[in-house]
This record gives sequence, C-alpha cells and structure tokens, in this order.
Amino acid sequence: MTALKFRNNDEMPILGLGTFRSEPNEVYNAVLSAIKIGYRHIDCAAAYGNEKEVGNAIAEAIKQGLVTREDLWVTSKLWNASHGEENVIPALKQTLEDLQLEYLDLYLIHWPVALKKGTEMPEKASDFIPLSEVPLTNTWKGMEAALEQGLAKHIGVSNFNENQLKEILVTAVHQPEMNQVEMHPFLQQDALQSFCVKNDMLLTAYAPLGSLVDDNSTLRLLENDTIKNIAKARRMSPAQVALAYTIQRGIAVIPKSINEARLLQNLESLNHTLTEDDMALLKDLDKGHRFIDGKFWEVDNGPYTADSIWKA
Ligand code: A2P
Repeated sequence: MTALKFRNNDEMPILGLGTFRSEPNEVYNAVLSAIKIGYRHIDCAAAYGNEKEVGNAIAEAIKQGLVTREDLWVTSKLWNASHGEENVIPALKQTLEDLQLEYLDLYLIHWPVALKKGTEMPEKASDFIPLSEVPLTNTWKGMEAALEQGLAKHIGVSNFNENQLKEILVTAVHQPEMNQVEMHPFLQQDALQSFCVKNDMLLTAYAPLGSLVDDNSTLRLLENDTIKNIAKARRMSPAQVALAYTIQRGIAVIPKSINEARLLQNLESLNHTLTEDDMALLKDLDKGHRFIDGKFWEVDNGPYTADSIWKA
C-alpha cells in the first residue's frame, strides 16, 4: 500500500516527512533532500516554528522543477491558541503565507486543548481556555469554513479521543477525515482505529519510530529485541520494521529525520512487506505506552489533565 484514499478519491502518500523538532536551519535541507529522493508528503504545524523554512524548501523544489505543487501533499495544524471559529481562517492564512502555498491538502486541529491568544506553551492555569468556553464544535465550524473556501482540501483533527470525535461528528456538516495520533508498536490504539474505520476516518501515526523526545524513558522502540530480530531476518533496519508494521495496518506514518541516509532508509520501508507471523509478533508488543504523554498540558488548577485528553 502506498497511499490512503480520502472520500473524494484524493490520495495521500502513506509515508510522509515529519518536521516536529527539526530546527529551522536543518529543516530546509531535510525537506529539499526528502523531495529529491521521492517524498511527496510533508507534515507541518504552525507550532513547530519552522514553516517558513519548510516553505522555502518547497518553493525551491518547485523552482528546480523537481515537483509541482499538485505532486505534493502538505498537511499543517491549527495551534491551540487559535481555537474558536473566528480564529481558524486567520491562523490558516498565516500558515499558508509561511509555507508559500495557496492551499493545504489537509488541515488539522492540533490538540483538543485551547490556549489564550499568543500563548506558545502554557505555564499557568490562566494561560488556558476550558473547552466549556470554546467548544471543539465551535472551532470545527472554522475548519469547515476553511474547507468551503478552498484553503484546505481536507480537514481533520489530531490527538482526539473517541468522545471528542463523537462530539464533532454529531454536529459536523463536513466530517473530520483524519485523526493524527501517536502510534507505533508500543502504542497500537486498536479501539481508536476501529472507531475511526467505522466512521470512515483515516489515521496518521506520529512518532512512528517511538520518538526520542522522552529521553528519560528506558523504553526504546528501535532497541526492542522482537523488532531487531525481525529486522535481521528480513534484512531491514529496526526503523523500517516499525514503519512497515504501521503501514500494513493501513495507517499513514510521518517519521521525522534530518539525516539523508535515514530519510532514504525510512522511505524504503515501502519496499518491504512483513509476513503474517512478523505482524503477529509485533502485535504482541503493544504496551499502551505514550512517548508524548500530554503531561505538559497539566498545570496547578488547570482545566486539562493528560487523562482527560486520552481517556475516551
Ligand atoms: P534524525 O532526525 O537525526 O534522523 P519520530 O518520527 O518517531 O518522532 O522519530 C524521530 C527521531 O528518530 C529523530 O530523533 C530522528 O533523528 C530519529 N530517526 C529518524 N529516522 C531514523 C531511523 N531510520 N533510524 C533511527 N533513528 C531515526
């Protein structure tokens, strides 16, 4: 499988380039190199603080004749400080300006968490707005307006649990077509996947390599023995095994890399197929472990807890 099909038959390449924690000075080369070797899907977000550099790289790739705009699938995300119907289009227009694009292929609500305008990362309770004051359904109306105005070809969400998805599905005129969440062999989210499939919603896995963000974690996905043994037997790298597993579950993956050899290695995971036995062994690795645990949304007397975000 090389692409996921949307309701109108638009196809999103199943493997894209993640740009979270790619420093502005590194991301330009990463995006340009990625496009040169065949990546056609770039995953961005206003919050990553590097959309201008991503935009410069996309513009350069188009200028060099490597690709046309239509060849690319570009996703971005609405930051938490722009929840609320009236704030969506201005935030999206800023992202489009930064990326030097006329439209996005996919625009997502980044988190079911609302912050006061101008807040990058919250430090105290007063930095937040509770969802009772700015309901997700209200922000969704802004997303629908973006779709109707042609600024985004598809709209969806990220980090949403089943209850939050249900809340939107009840009132949506245009239903969310994508939920982007953390997924890898240690966090397989079977129940969420079934719910999304039932509701004709696609999934994208972020941190598909078990993100190295949690440096204190003793759990290292790519050092897991089962993954390493399968990698050895199939002449793949551990990263390719992790990516192939999620891809074979019908889920898109957006591994981040700023290193040319690893960019290529990750793209080449598309050339490998795991056997049913491999898939069964990998299925057993599920531990429900989140590397991105959401605890950064918890402050004293704040309106959000990690549990309120993840537990449906
Ligand atoms: P680097 O950018 O130096 O390649 P995730 O996408 O799960 O968040 O993981 C990204 C992390 O994994 C980054 O630190 C990235 O580092 C590293 N990484 C990306 N591709 C590979 C690979 N094929 N093998 C090992 N580490 C990788």
